[in-house]
Amino acid sequence: MDAVLFITVILLTVSQAVKSCLPSDHAALLAFKSALHEPYLGVFNSWTGTDCCHNWYGVSCDPQIGCVADITLRGESEDKIFQKAHRTGYMTGYISPAICKLTRLQSITITDWKGISGEIPNCISRLPFLRIIDLVGNKISGVIPANIGKLHRLTVFNVADNVISGRIPSSLTNLTSLMHLDLRNNRISGPLPPSFGQLRMLSRALLSRNQISGPIPSSISTIYRLADLDLSLNQLSGPIPVSLGKMSVLGTLNLDGNKLSGSIPASLLISGISNLNLSKNYLLGNLPDVFGPRSYFSVLDLSYNYLKGPIPKSISSASYIGHLDLSHNHLCGRIPAGSPFDHLEASSFVNNDCLCGKPLKAC
Ligand SMILES: *[C@@H]1O[C@H](CO)[C@@H](O)[C@H](O)[C@H]1NC(C)=O
Ligand SMILES: *[C@@H]1O[C@H](CO)[C@@H](O)[C@H](O)[C@H]1NC(C)=O
Repeated sequence: MDAVLFITVILLTVSQAVKSCLPSDHAALLAFKSALHEPYLGVFNSWTGTDCCHNWYGVSCDPQIGCVADITLRGESEDKIFQKAHRTGYMTGYISPAICKLTRLQSITITDWKGISGEIPNCISRLPFLRIIDLVGNKISGVIPANIGKLHRLTVFNVADNVISGRIPSSLTNLTSLMHLDLRNNRISGPLPPSFGQLRMLSRALLSRNQISGPIPSSISTIYRLADLDLSLNQLSGPIPVSLGKMSVLGTLNLDGNKLSGSIPASLLISGISNLNLSKNYLLGNLPDVFGPRSYFSVLDLSYNYLKGPIPKSISSASYIGHLDLSHNHLCGRIPAGSPFDHLEASSFVNNDCLCGKPLKAC
């Protein structure tokens, strides 16, 4: 009986110890907090006492081992502290490297605080359990950590809407668990790593609104799961790889606002892609005469290029074209008739060399 009681006491003590906060995690969180300033909501008001695993706003622990596993501080949320304050979040300061002392951290979500600046601490590449890095909507500068590729479990890397500069480190393509890459709206320059295709789990690659230059690596087309590729509004040059039209689940391809040249690969017009924007490039040549029942487009925007020749008759056999824009090219000839065209207005065809017929003036 005594033995049972003794074991029960031991178990209770152990489970108690397991549930509270490690002193080293506690110290790291306080150092993390001291580098930030949040004047309106009081998100850090609950960060008192020694047990960081209970009721510390935005902190959660792994219940098995009692270590901090997730930091989730969203500046835009339905949470009651936001409702009470009737405003979205604003925070200044920086992300302290002390965060790297949280050795079992699985996710860092510090989003939409608008004013957090400083750099992404380099040392986060030494947090082997990280699965999510989400820092969207701050003022974070500096570069993507050179050793980011060490994070073999990372599935989400989202640093969109910041002021990150420098190149995409070549190690990034070692993130073989990465599913969601979002670098939109930063100041990233230099080329896409040729080995981009190594990101074999990637389903969304959003890199729009940067200064990325050089060619589109054809290795991208080996990413079997890639559904959404947005490289728009960069400085990419060279041809569009033909193989992009042969990807099995690619549905959205936005390459608009670059310096892409060469002709439009026929493969893109009979692929699974239903949102295709190639507007504002240097594309030339004829529109391939390959449209057919497999051509289904919510958006097909080829405006502001140097396309010439006629609009191919086959386009009438496309199964659907919701929004078509062929304006500002050098197309010429009669606009085909047919169901994909009935709803289109003149603006889809204006500013070409000599297009005619409905909805433009008669030939
Ligand atoms: C990518 O990973 C491989 C194997 O782990 C390693 O040899 C290589 O140095 C890494 N590449 C970069 C650029 O970090
Ligand atoms: C296609 O891209 C251009 C240039 O970035 C943009 O202005 C246009 O709105 C986009 N088209 C559609 C239908 O979204």
